[in-house]
Amino acid sequence: MTAINPAAEDEKFSFTPFTRHPFFTHVNKWILERVICPGRQVIVDLGCGPGAVTELILEHVRGQQPPPRVIGVDPSPSALAKARAAISSKLAEFVQGSAEWLSKLVKSADAVVFLNAIHLMPDKPQVLKEIRRVLKPGGLLAFNSTFFNGAYVEGTSGFWRRWIVRSVQALREKGIEVTHNGHAAAMEWYSADQYTAALKEAGFRPTTVELLRIDMTRAALIDIGRFSLFIEGALPGVPLEEGAKALEVGLERTMSELKVESVPRHWLEVVAEAV
Ligand SMILES: C[S@@+](CC[C@H](N)C(=O)[O-])C[C@H]1O[C@@H](n2cnc3c(N)ncnc32)[C@H](O)[C@@H]1O
Repeated sequence: MTAINPAAEDEKFSFTPFTRHPFFTHVNKWILERVICPGRQVIVDLGCGPGAVTELILEHVRGQQPPPRVIGVDPSPSALAKARAAISSKLAEFVQGSAEWLSKLVKSADAVVFLNAIHLMPDKPQVLKEIRRVLKPGGLLAFNSTFFNGAYVEGTSGFWRRWIVRSVQALREKGIEVTHNGHAAAMEWYSADQYTAALKEAGFRPTTVELLRIDMTRAALIDIGRFSLFIEGALPGVPLEEGAKALEVGLERTMSELKVESVPRHWLEVVAEAV
């Protein structure tokens, strides 16, 4: 029997390779430019993961006087270890914890950015209320996600469906049955309208709700298919190693059958003011 080394597993199924694709920087910078400005002294990077967004925030505030505090929060110790190793700025600090109890970790903030993670929250209204508790009136919450109802550009839903079907077939060929269907509970997808309603209910005034259209290349799709949380969402209950391999086979088959080299997709970008 092979021993499982959790650190090596994290490395192997990390989000980092996906963050290196240029469109990922674009969808994150687009929203950061709308919330990070002088005067916002305490900025929380919620769900900071290995720190790709934290680095963008630090780039954005370079030279700002007085310098702001940037607090990265994430439940994953291994992601935080990577963020701490990658980021040496004195402005940044990292705290282990979860969005569900953010007000126990951070007393008060001028801006909370929660990028590429809100879709993972099983109870989105509760989390939005919790974020509202730490924001000063007039403070801003920004979040984005490509896992929402509306992410599929018209005419492409067949691509995503086929990718899952072909991956499940690849697993079956190896004798692995997938028992669950659809998204895992923790991946419940909201629509833009549902997010808007939940924001208002939590004490926010949404000021920006926009869709950005990007092209996901083959290389980006391969990388997202190797990310642990994506594998768990796409193929619930399947071991990561087997799931990642099946998603890669399923992707190759789908792209060759449909004769495509990339697929467009929407990113939802939201800014809301605490009222
Ligand atoms: C796809 S990564 C996004 C990382 C980073 N925000 C980015 O955009 O590059 C999602 C992150 O959300 C974190 N996460 C999962 N559950 C969370 C929770 N309850 N509270 C805060 N972060 C959470 C995960 O640990 C992971 O680092």
